[in-house]
Amino acid sequence: MDKMWSGRFSATASTLLDQFNASIMFDRKLYREDIEGSLAHAAMLTKQGILTTEEFHQISDGLSQVMIEIESGEFEWKISDEDLHMAIEKRLTAIIGDTGKKLHTARSRNDQVAVDFRRYVLRKNLEIVDALKLLMSEILVVAHKHTETLLPGMTHLQHAQPINFGFHLGAYLSMFKRDIERFESSHKRNNVSPLGCAALAGTPHNINRDMTAELLGFDEVSINCLDTVSDRDFALEILFGISTMMMHISRLSEELVMWSSYEFAFVELSDEYSTGSSIMPQKKNPDVPELLRGKTGRVYGSLMGLLTVMKGLPLAYNKDTQEDKEGVFDAVETAEISLAILKEAIKTMQVKPHNMLKASKVGHLSATDLADYLVQKCNIPFREAHFITGKAVAKSEELKIDLSDIELKYLQDIDSRIGGDVLEFLSITNSMNARTSAGGTASIRTKEQLQYFKTFLEK
Ligand code: ARG
Repeated sequence: MDKMWSGRFSATASTLLDQFNASIMFDRKLYREDIEGSLAHAAMLTKQGILTTEEFHQISDGLSQVMIEIESGEFEWKISDEDLHMAIEKRLTAIIGDTGKKLHTARSRNDQVAVDFRRYVLRKNLEIVDALKLLMSEILVVAHKHTETLLPGMTHLQHAQPINFGFHLGAYLSMFKRDIERFESSHKRNNVSPLGCAALAGTPHNINRDMTAELLGFDEVSINCLDTVSDRDFALEILFGISTMMMHISRLSEELVMWSSYEFAFVELSDEYSTGSSIMPQKKNPDVPELLRGKTGRVYGSLMGLLTVMKGLPLAYNKDTQEDKEGVFDAVETAEISLAILKEAIKTMQVKPHNMLKASKVGHLSATDLADYLVQKCNIPFREAHFITGKAVAKSEELKIDLSDIELKYLQDIDSRIGGDVLEFLSITNSMNARTSAGGTASIRTKEQLQYFKTFLEK
């Protein structure tokens, strides 16, 4: 009968129940948040005259000792203690005696876990933002070097129009910037303190929620206790933020896998971040981007898992909610290692501009430019220009050359209105640099975009 809640029970809990009911194996990760929360709570109770200063010192000394025991690995985590909240309080009471039993005045495990888990998630939002910024900086380094490096821009995975590699990477910088903003806005929205909500309805004790909120670094106090003790939106938001970020990482990974194939050979991943085959000695496999693509799945699973846990819950706290933590811990750890390794893979990969250029000379990438020329210089309606260009593409195919290499005479055979000035329109470099509209691929526009991301990272 060593349970803290055993007063109304006459038989001891079965060991099977202990195993099933406990969260201590995973929520112990929150020990720092839990001890800091208890210290803030005790300081507030003291200020309000609910605890004496002497009692406060006993509690804070006891909690410091618990912290040391946990960090040195001495602390005994027992499944029968159910969760970290009870394990820590029990140990505190063992160390300091009956004063330890006063700590839980005007508090419930329901607001306690809401405080601990929320603070963990808030902290992780900011740490992931920092890691995203490091990744973006590394992508920027590569992008800056390649604002003139041509490669085929694609739609439907078919060669479409020439772009430069810096511009291509700029697309990912845009995605990661949105990810950062998503984590930051979630952090701001959820930075409210649950402490003092107690079990569900508040407390008759004369507490000061503003004080604990401030001590714990929250911006404000939550509005409605019934909502607060059962709200896990903050956890869902970080899961959605990580899922979206992993989706972006997965898209980039997919391109890295393709680009490192013999068929593309646009990049070569460094030996440090590639793996071999156990049977085929010649192989160099892109395991890193493949695993990044794969790990995206488990993060989506955690998001779906928690959405499903929450959907049928009546107010307020329900034990189902205990299922909120493992998926978030796993998603956060997946995000952290994914960001770190992707950054290294990008930093150490070798870009192959020559192969990108070769690929740009396949598929008549400047065909749209010929049509634009016919519209701009010959005053031909676009539909007709499109048709004439189609003829020029067919002729190039017949000659087994790229449209950018066609001789003027063939074009003039198709339409006599075409002048010698057409050839500069057909050059793929000019084609890329012609796209100067806002957000376009022209090298000057790309450089502006990269400058924009640089400024974003510096602020
Ligand atoms: N271990 C619980 C959880 O993770 C803590 C809150 C338990 N509250 C309760 N009334 N049983 O959600």
